[in-house]
Amino acid sequence: MVRCSNNLVGILNFIVFLLSIPILAGGIWLSQNGSTECEGFLDKPVIALGVFLMVVAIVGLIGSCCRVTWLLWTYLFVMFLLILLVFSITVFAFVVTNKGAGEKVSGRGYKEYRLGDYSNWLQKRVNSDKNWNKIRSCLADSKVCSKLEDKLVGVPVKNFYNEHLTALQSGCCKPSEQCQFTYVSATNWTKTAGTQPNPDCQSWDNAPNKLCFDCQSCKAGLLDNVKSAWKKVAVVNIIFLVFLIIVYSVGCCALRNNKRDGSYGYGYKP
Ligand SMILES: *[C@@H]1O[C@H](CO)[C@@H](O)[C@H](O)[C@H]1NC(C)=O
Repeated sequence: MVRCSNNLVGILNFIVFLLSIPILAGGIWLSQNGSTECEGFLDKPVIALGVFLMVVAIVGLIGSCCRVTWLLWTYLFVMFLLILLVFSITVFAFVVTNKGAGEKVSGRGYKEYRLGDYSNWLQKRVNSDKNWNKIRSCLADSKVCSKLEDKLVGVPVKNFYNEHLTALQSGCCKPSEQCQFTYVSATNWTKTAGTQPNPDCQSWDNAPNKLCFDCQSCKAGLLDNVKSAWKKVAVVNIIFLVFLIIVYSVGCCALRNNKRDGSYGYGYKP
């Protein structure tokens, strides 16, 4: 029973060690195959997480199996920081993603997206020109709009209005409903004269590399994707957090055992 928690720390850390291998491999794969700027920001944190988990697991394994008390102390301290970090990221993800959603447009199969509906923190990220230029060129490379155009070639306006568009397609590939432009094709609209209340109407351009990529609605469509991705991250984080807390508690128990064994000399307890 007393040995159990030391063994358990060993086993749990071995699982963490095994987990870190695919994470690390995935990060390295991303860094070598991610050619567009979209994925560029993903590989480094993933590699860092993989290396970090691997080191923590090895320290925990050695600390528990070889009964090195100072290593166990280090291990538990780092684990504590990791738990705090994951907890903060989870709370942050929930706070940031709790605002904002697409709005139904009557008689249309798709929703429209308004930047002002999303959390201020996310808005600031996409309103930075430096960030947006990167995302913008990534969106153009990803062909999100040209794929839509190819799919809807020759589709009459009535059918277009019934289409289900993704947040990015709705925000970036077509002008806003408020503009009242005349439909030619999904990504080709004839501007109507007069002043429109929505500045997105001025931003619209039929050129395939412009379209509505500079619209507020495009930024909002992107944030809608970010929001759903972060919701998933938050849920995965909660599961990860529970696992970490279990490993941490067992680790604390093992540390107590090491200390108790120490005070009993080299006593070997069954
Ligand atoms: C949009 O449609 C008009 C009218 O059919 C055409 O003249 C124009 O070249 C099209 N623009 C683009 C970018 O495809």
